[in-house]
Amino acid sequence: EPTTDGETADVLVVGSGIAGCSAALAAAREGADVLLLTKATKPDDASTDWAQGGISTTRGDPESLKRDIIDASDGTADPDAVDALVETADDAVEDVLVDTLEVGFDEGDDGSFDYTREAAHSASRILHVDAATGTHILRPFLHYLDDHERIEVRQDTAALELITAEGRVHGVVSDEAPNGHPIYAGATILATGGIGALYGRSTNPDDATGDGIAMAALAGADVEDMEYVQFHPTAYAGDDPFLLSEALRGEGAVLRNGDGERFMEENHPQGDLAPRDVVARAVETEREETGEVVLDVSPLEFAADYPGIAATCRDRGIEGDEIPVAPCEHFLCGGIDVDEVGRTSLDRLYAVGECARTGVHGANRLASTSLLEGLVWGLRAGEDAVGFDPEPVEAPELRNRDPDLPERFAAEKFTRLTQTMDEYLGLERDPEEIARASAVLRRLKGEVDAYIRTRTARDLYELRNASVTALLIARAAGENTESVGCHYVATDADESTAEPTAND
Ligand code: SIN
Repeated sequence: EPTTDGETADVLVVGSGIAGCSAALAAAREGADVLLLTKATKPDDASTDWAQGGISTTRGDPESLKRDIIDASDGTADPDAVDALVETADDAVEDVLVDTLEVGFDEGDDGSFDYTREAAHSASRILHVDAATGTHILRPFLHYLDDHERIEVRQDTAALELITAEGRVHGVVSDEAPNGHPIYAGATILATGGIGALYGRSTNPDDATGDGIAMAALAGADVEDMEYVQFHPTAYAGDDPFLLSEALRGEGAVLRNGDGERFMEENHPQGDLAPRDVVARAVETEREETGEVVLDVSPLEFAADYPGIAATCRDRGIEGDEIPVAPCEHFLCGGIDVDEVGRTSLDRLYAVGECARTGVHGANRLASTSLLEGLVWGLRAGEDAVGFDPEPVEAPELRNRDPDLPERFAAEKFTRLTQTMDEYLGLERDPEEIARASAVLRRLKGEVDAYIRTRTARDLYELRNASVTALLIARAAGENTESVGCHYVATDADESTAEPTAND
């Protein structure tokens, strides 16, 4: 039976990365009582905590950052959205990160900030804390919110469905009760992050199952640019990949192929600092042709300047200056379509951070703009979302008919899903393979839809969300026959002849 019982909040935020934290902060500053729900049980369940390189500023030259963002996107970024980003970037960084949270960004000997550079940036303008910037932002942010009298952060709590009535969103049903727990809100802000768990190799935490995108799409919100899945060119090539920040190349590290030769100069005028999509494809080609690609960090003071990455390399038994690398899923440039303050196409629903598509990234994101976008749009959305009263309407009651059914189901289906994404919707795509992926994913979603009526278990909803999001990616990829940015459609000449291995 539907219910209208439940708790209320002025503003409900779902997700605890930089975008969700910024939204919560801004709404509370405006006088709202904020409830922030997060699946996370520890800070590093959020992608923000994994962010290495840093957060871009304009360093007083917004036009130059704007140019770099648009160039890296192959001319596809929305100039108005980029203006919105660069116009508020420096104030937002100073207000929240420097003054409020007192993040200890690295400084030079003279006590001024040590700005670093990453690929496709024409200037050194990125604030960082060695190459572990996300951790140094997120942890003080969560402490700050925990101490805030208007903000409740509720961990280990997943939003399963949006509550909607007549095109308006009234909150979410969370997994705090067996048949779902309704939480009504004046406005709901999704900040659920990315989609890394849809791929076998990703730089995201395992929790990145596309939850917000799926819930919003199922409620009828517009999504855009879902084919633009960005692959980072330099993740560790072995099992359990980890990121080797672009800051390493920004400061002098170089790529070499299996013959020990540098190869990026012949691929792009910016060489090793070309946009990410270009470098990722070149790395993959060289791996196929010469056996491997390594990141040569010998030009750097690697251990001294990048202690976190150097320690990870040591822990994995990687010795010497040459680290084997391969592309790896990293960031979704598309997502829930939003305006300049994060409003979606549904009334009182906002989306910020990686789950949102602001238009800033177009078909390929520039390095160190994701934390910035999360911060800027989080603040804008939080401010805009204040002033609406929660209106309890009938919330869907979820079904938990058979709570004891085996959990094995979700894990098996998830494996089929990631195999399909890896095989057919990776760095290079082919129209026939995209169509095959769509067929597999449609079948899989049908099976999940039937099964989800039996249990409200979180893993099943994550699987449902991943399968909806995967289908959105497949559909968008199938509809876009043009190679642009991260979406590279193979031509007949370079078409793969590999046999499918996904279980279809
Ligand atoms: C990196 O450090 O290379 C990642 C930075 C980013 O994704 O913006």
